[in-house]
Amino acid sequence: MTASAKPSLLFVCLGNICRSPAAEGVFLHLSENQGTGDRFEVDSAGTGGWHVGKPADGRMRSAAQARGIELPSRARQIEIADLNRFDWILTMDSDNLAHVQAMAKRHGQATAKILPITSFCSGFSVRDVPDPYYGGPEGFEQVLDLLDDACRGLLEHLAS
Ligand code: 4NP
Repeated sequence: MTASAKPSLLFVCLGNICRSPAAEGVFLHLSENQGTGDRFEVDSAGTGGWHVGKPADGRMRSAAQARGIELPSRARQIEIADLNRFDWILTMDSDNLAHVQAMAKRHGQATAKILPITSFCSGFSVRDVPDPYYGGPEGFEQVLDLLDDACRGLLEHLAS
């Protein structure tokens, strides 16, 4: 984190249309409820570029909206500059983590702390936020439940 800037967080999944837009939305929602919404810079990105420019998946947006959470993001692909632009890069699953770590290794430098978002969970004990894209509605609810737990822990960590 630079001395003057707000802590910045980039949430990363595969397509940037389900899990990472939800993580961004859940984090901001919780943060706003705590009165700290303007204290952070948040963004999300995908390791893949298939959905660049698209809004979040309608199923993810509906599930989030039912909890009062808006997901306004447009998909983009993670780029090398992100490794030094953000203080934190929070990945959704082991594949995303390996991808970002490999980018950092190839580039030779990353100032961002690169961590699985589930490392901030306290209620759930899981390694991955499962990809809901090819599954049923319960998968989207599970994503939101996991992200709620993880983002609460993350906010607590950032406040301490
Ligand atoms: P996300 O979900 O990584 O949570 O955005 C996916 C979205 C799209 C695809 C895979 C996962 N896809 O294969 O197109």
